[in-house]
Amino acid sequence: MSNSTNTASADVETFRGSSLELKNLSMAYGDIEVLRNVSFTIAPGTTTCIIGPSGSGKSTLLRGINRLHEPKSGDVILDGDSALGLKPDILRRRIGMVFQHFNLFPDHIALENVALSLRNVKGMSRAESKERAMRRLVEVGLAERSEHRPRDLSGGQQQRVAIARALAMEPEVMLFDEATSALDPELVKGVLTLMAGLGGRGMTMAVVTHEMGFARKVADQVIFMDEGEVVEAGSPEDLFDRPKSDRLQRFLSEVL
Ligand SMILES: Nc1ncnc2c1ncn2[C@@H]1O[C@H](COP(=O)(O)OP(=O)(O)O)[C@@H](O)[C@H]1O
Ligand SMILES: [Mg+2]
Repeated sequence: MSNSTNTASADVETFRGSSLELKNLSMAYGDIEVLRNVSFTIAPGTTTCIIGPSGSGKSTLLRGINRLHEPKSGDVILDGDSALGLKPDILRRRIGMVFQHFNLFPDHIALENVALSLRNVKGMSRAESKERAMRRLVEVGLAERSEHRPRDLSGGQQQRVAIARALAMEPEVMLFDEATSALDPELVKGVLTLMAGLGGRGMTMAVVTHEMGFARKVADQVIFMDEGEVVEAGSPEDLFDRPKSDRLQRFLSEVL
């Protein structure tokens, strides 16, 4: 808006990511507490990577942010609005999520996987939904695969469809839960590059990942979690080059 010389990048859409603030978020499964007083802020258009051992509560945290599992206490503030005060379906339009297993509709082609929710959630016409879905598939590099069913796509291509589907809702924040963990090694890089590109174009992102190279290179902020708590938070340099706690030092010695 502030820049009138935008012709050079006219074909690259930018996002208007919102801020996301977690305030003393606590979560439990029944009587078992799994998150305790988790607080951090993700500035608009920045990428936060969340790292930590298996079982430390990373997935639970993302599930709490868009209320796939209701937090026990605390709050999530999305662009000034309490997420707990929003209707869950409205909240999930504003916060997109991408999972390790792509959760595509197996009987629908890639284009329909994206277009369906545009009709169901956004109430678009058939023609408009298909046109919009195609644009999203082009954006994730899948124009030539739009007519393929998930089983005829590689894991990396399926994950791109899932990302296109989430982007089609025009979210203000994107959550990724180990989005590349189920992929064959040679397909990981392409999906990570796509994710980094979204961040570069202004999306606000919370990325749970085991890809430490990605976290170091792309993250504006890294959060290290262990046993349901934030143990350290800071820049990639702070966490990877100058870890303070024994727990983070031990974790890094195991994964790097
Ligand atoms: N649906 C569930 N019911 C009960 N306990 C769960 C459930 N999901 C996860 N947990 C437990 O919550 C803790 C945090 O799990 P999770 O958030 O999946 O960790 P991470 O994603 O870091 O591996 C673990 O101890 C796990 O066993
Ligand atoms: Mg997990």
